[in-house]
Amino acid sequence: MSQGIENLFVENRTFPPSEEFVAQANADKSVYDDATDWKAFWHKQALNRITWFKEPTEVLDDSNPPFFKWFADGELNVAYNCIDRHLETQADKVAYHWVGEPGDELTFTYQDVYDRVTKLANGLKSLGVKRGDRVAIYLGMTPEIAISMLACARIGAIHSVVFGGFSADALADRIEDAGITVIITADGAWRRGSVVPLKAAADVAAARCPTVEHIVVVKRTEKAVEMTDVRDVWYHDLVAEQSTDCEPEVMNAEDMLYILYTSGTTAKPKGVVHTQGGYLTQVATTHSYVFDIKPDDVYWCAADCGWVTGHSYIVYGPMANGATQIMYEGAPNFPDNDRLWEIIEKYKATIFYTAPTAIRAFMKWGDDYPAKHDLSSLRLLGSVGEPINPEAWMWYHKHIGGETSPIVDTWWQTETGAIMITPLPGAVDTKPGSATLPFPGISADVIDADGKTVPLGGGGFLALDRPWPSMLRTLYGDPDRYVATYWSQHDGLYFAGDGVKRDDEGYFWLLGRVDDVMNISGHRISTTEVESALVEDARVAEAAVVGRSDPISGEAIAAFVTLKSGVEGNEDMIGELRTVVADKIGPIAKPKSIVFTDDLPKTRSGKIMRRLLKDISEQRQLGDVTTLANADIVQEIADKASTPSD
Ligand code: WTA
Repeated sequence: MSQGIENLFVENRTFPPSEEFVAQANADKSVYDDATDWKAFWHKQALNRITWFKEPTEVLDDSNPPFFKWFADGELNVAYNCIDRHLETQADKVAYHWVGEPGDELTFTYQDVYDRVTKLANGLKSLGVKRGDRVAIYLGMTPEIAISMLACARIGAIHSVVFGGFSADALADRIEDAGITVIITADGAWRRGSVVPLKAAADVAAARCPTVEHIVVVKRTEKAVEMTDVRDVWYHDLVAEQSTDCEPEVMNAEDMLYILYTSGTTAKPKGVVHTQGGYLTQVATTHSYVFDIKPDDVYWCAADCGWVTGHSYIVYGPMANGATQIMYEGAPNFPDNDRLWEIIEKYKATIFYTAPTAIRAFMKWGDDYPAKHDLSSLRLLGSVGEPINPEAWMWYHKHIGGETSPIVDTWWQTETGAIMITPLPGAVDTKPGSATLPFPGISADVIDADGKTVPLGGGGFLALDRPWPSMLRTLYGDPDRYVATYWSQHDGLYFAGDGVKRDDEGYFWLLGRVDDVMNISGHRISTTEVESALVEDARVAEAAVVGRSDPISGEAIAAFVTLKSGVEGNEDMIGELRTVVADKIGPIAKPKSIVFTDDLPKTRSGKIMRRLLKDISEQRQLGDVTTLANADIVQEIADKASTPSD
């Protein structure tokens, strides 16, 4: 078996930013030079972008690796940085244009956000919430989700946002692990026209978790809910009589800001811990340089605050930078497939950030939906969450970006807290499918199984070889697991768990999770490359491949393919698609079987669950499906796959 991962897929298209874009960009090439002294670079960002109650003189404390500290003698309040300091100059500027799924709309200025955050902060205090207490936020994408996060930050409470699509059991696991005392939830959340019963799930979770003292309930849907006396309180009642005076708590840079659970290989989720000063420094810096944010931009990160993308690029980064944002409550295809384009047109969004899974869905629905709307206000696009297939990149570029907006493909993780590998849109030529280069001040490497650097042109494992300000500090309550999961593979290196290759110009091409890499006749082949080859066929919307055990080749490639709307799969197409892969990558990567399916099993954040497809391919009992967004599809695929095409 070779040490790295094969580099087979070749993509040569290059897209330099336009001269006009370069001329106005927040970051030019000199930022890379500026960051050669990386500690000085981050110190400068921390001092320039953040208002400190006590400015840090220390930068990085690396005396006890991997328990690093940043700006450890600094003092600040994150909510103060996101709200109060903007009031003098832009109290009336819109912070959020909020769009509800049923069609209601609200606009919040920075002053409105201040008023609501301080009232809720005082309300939480009246319930006994103190500095250091843990608060769960289990809401849909209504303004209260951001307000709750900021209210916790203001009083030094630690929030744990649990995605509203998670079950009562998943919520209870997270509550138990973090010792939550208060849950903020709602009578329900709108999703594709129906109501997700959040409060009912919170009740079930609270019954299992004796630490819960109060449940605060936002009225959103008018759905009847049970309210337990003393324990439960309506949000509107809690804030009604509160004052807007609420001194922000003075926090140390290394105090905990939040816990965010992310799934690991075992059933027990990992409580990723982020702290204050380094985190805010890096989210503010990346938000400004990567999204090129200007005072009059209308910025839209179409993520959910239940994921880290929402934490860093809907709440903390953009608010620290005083941006105007769009926040949308519901599904992209409700009431129709052009909902997002309608919102972009209406609010004249200038920057749009979404995930490849969404882009592939837009492709599947067809070009007509974006074509119906004027998207000419857009000037920059972003992608996050998975490798973006070159064809999806090209579609995004053409149909959403009008062939002029730069695309920033940003690689990062819940654990990294902020963007790590990305183009600076005015300084780097992009290539479809490549996240390009480490952000200034960040250092990444491609290593083989022995931890040695793989030369340019080769593939291997992504490692980060120097600490960064927004890094996770530990896993909540489990420092040993923190060390074992990320720092024990190779001395001094953070192991990201992703496969990656680097081209001759040093550009990074992410290849998917290492657990997903296939081993075909001794060659380690990335799922991403084979999937991208399949998606190059104009009839294919989305593809997932897995290695299933094979007596001859070790593993054989099994492909699952979703076709574009209106296209029917047949035997001929199976042969044609195998040829497409052989032409693009090589005969070794030809899928042995291809199954056409209406959808692919995905996590609730949209990542394809290849592990389940592997179970299906090997006709094994299915593994854990509790984190799936669309559990029904698994049985459907299993039925189809039981009559294999080879
Ligand atoms: C994947 C999301 C390729 C990767 C911010 C990573 C990506 C995991 C990209 C983290 C990208 C994220 N290109 N792969 N631009 N962005 N990933 O914790 O496998 O939800 O390790 O954080 O998503 O997912 P998480």
